[in-house]
Amino acid sequence: MKDVIIKLLTKEARLKEDEIEKILEVPPSSEFGDYSFPCFVLSKREKKSPDKIAEHFAQTIKLPKEIEKIENKGPYLNFFINKNILAEEVLKINSNFGKSSPGKNKKIVIDFSAPNIGKPMHIGHIRSTILGDSIMRIYNFLGYDSVGINYLGDIGLHIGKLIVAYELWLDKEALKKDPVQELLRLYVKFNSKEKSEITEGLEEEFQDNEWTQKAKEKLKLLELGDKKTEKIWEDIRKASGKGFDKVYDLLKVNFNETVGQSEFSEHGKKIVTNALLKGLAKTEKDGAVYVEINGQKKFILRSNQTASYITYDIGAAVERYKKYKFDKMIYVTDFRQSDHFAQLFTILKRFGYDFSDKLIHLPFGTVKFGNEIIATRKGDIILLEDVLKKTIAKADEEIKKRKTQGDAEKVGVGAIKYLVLKSAPSAEVQFSWEQALNFEGDSGPYIQYSYARASSIIKKAGKFNKSKIKIENLNQSEINLVKKIYEFPERVQSACKELNPSIIANYSFELSKAFNEFYHTSPVIGDKSESFRLLLVNSFRTTLKNALYLLGIEVMNEM
Ligand code: ARG
Repeated sequence: MKDVIIKLLTKEARLKEDEIEKILEVPPSSEFGDYSFPCFVLSKREKKSPDKIAEHFAQTIKLPKEIEKIENKGPYLNFFINKNILAEEVLKINSNFGKSSPGKNKKIVIDFSAPNIGKPMHIGHIRSTILGDSIMRIYNFLGYDSVGINYLGDIGLHIGKLIVAYELWLDKEALKKDPVQELLRLYVKFNSKEKSEITEGLEEEFQDNEWTQKAKEKLKLLELGDKKTEKIWEDIRKASGKGFDKVYDLLKVNFNETVGQSEFSEHGKKIVTNALLKGLAKTEKDGAVYVEINGQKKFILRSNQTASYITYDIGAAVERYKKYKFDKMIYVTDFRQSDHFAQLFTILKRFGYDFSDKLIHLPFGTVKFGNEIIATRKGDIILLEDVLKKTIAKADEEIKKRKTQGDAEKVGVGAIKYLVLKSAPSAEVQFSWEQALNFEGDSGPYIQYSYARASSIIKKAGKFNKSKIKIENLNQSEINLVKKIYEFPERVQSACKELNPSIIANYSFELSKAFNEFYHTSPVIGDKSESFRLLLVNSFRTTLKNALYLLGIEVMNEM
């Protein structure tokens, strides 16, 4: 429908399609029509006031059948769409509704989740996981070929610390029973000896005492290929991986590739060495290598010639481009890594890697529990797995109270995903169980429940009659629902363009609200509009299912 108006205006206003697309508005209230064209832009060319231009158009434009009427209101030209035709379109949709193929033959790499081996996943990782998964789904839906990479932090000082702790204090039985908990205990114990602080699972590495030295020695041994140290590292990786997989299983998130950061040590170092030879990087007196960015030294190799976080990322980016020849690569992390990625992109560009223009960092805001950040300095981090399990248990209670057939896991996981996705990535997320599981409000369960309600109407009706449907005299709630459904493809496209799944999350809520209003005002079964309304319910259900699919939220026919 929008394209009908755009076409009409290209002819009448002699503007380009994309210009019109940019200025065409959806008015705040339906009394001003469904779309509104502000005539200011034409004023100069036509040497007339925008009001006069709008008036002229309103009187002269010949309307296609899709448009019921146009009106001028001051400088605006308001279009009223023929609702019956819109409804016809909406009844025709199928399970591909919203799909399109702007992404044909384009490859997108998404680097997300990326927890650190040996440490439990924290709530920041859950946000990255849920966001990255949703963005991947959106790209695929629009015909892109996307590759999800889980880049595990399997090397770094935290690994050195864990190896020390493992040798000194490991409780083998505990590791078998609950690997995540035991590794966390070791890690916390080490940090208390070292007297370093843990915040949100990211310790501040400003200590450099005997304990820190021990950890560094272990790292060095690992670099040198010491067998005994490697064996411990392997054990830690395995135990830790088990913990991560439990979370991914619960979230039903998959990756195309899971790879340790350490894989890229040699690649990264080679690139740094080449850059040194070409004079693109410099050496400090102590041997550390750096690049100067905005007058500041950014170190890309440590003085003892070992790799650091950025060295690995340099190697990994170059290797990934070789492997995938991507059109875009998106890194999904906490906003605190924004500097890191800006520096990484600058360095790659300076080193002559033109693909650096295809790299994007998608930073996201903090997730807060109550008023506190997730972890405390004592290291009593709230474990992700526990958050998920607790949510599922609470969902179960709620379902039992309501004596319904819901699946607690789908409800609980959906509640968390929705809570995380309904805020734009840049915004903070306030975690609250009350909000996440509020069946009556802006929540995952409310939306899933709307889906179940639609399913039960369709089930009750049995078959529906597609042939002799007359669409006429739609009531307001029908019109609103039709219009909402119709918006879906456009919302998917903006979510993709803006890398912002909250557009789809908010849409799902608006769509469910429109459906529930319809449901309360317009009886379906037994009504004289039954055939039409059933098909409308069916289109609603298909659309909501697709929208929730893009968020990674599962639907249920009963709840
Ligand atoms: N492991 C890092 C962390 O937990 C995130 C890694 C993000 N990806 C990357 N290529 N640097 O903070």
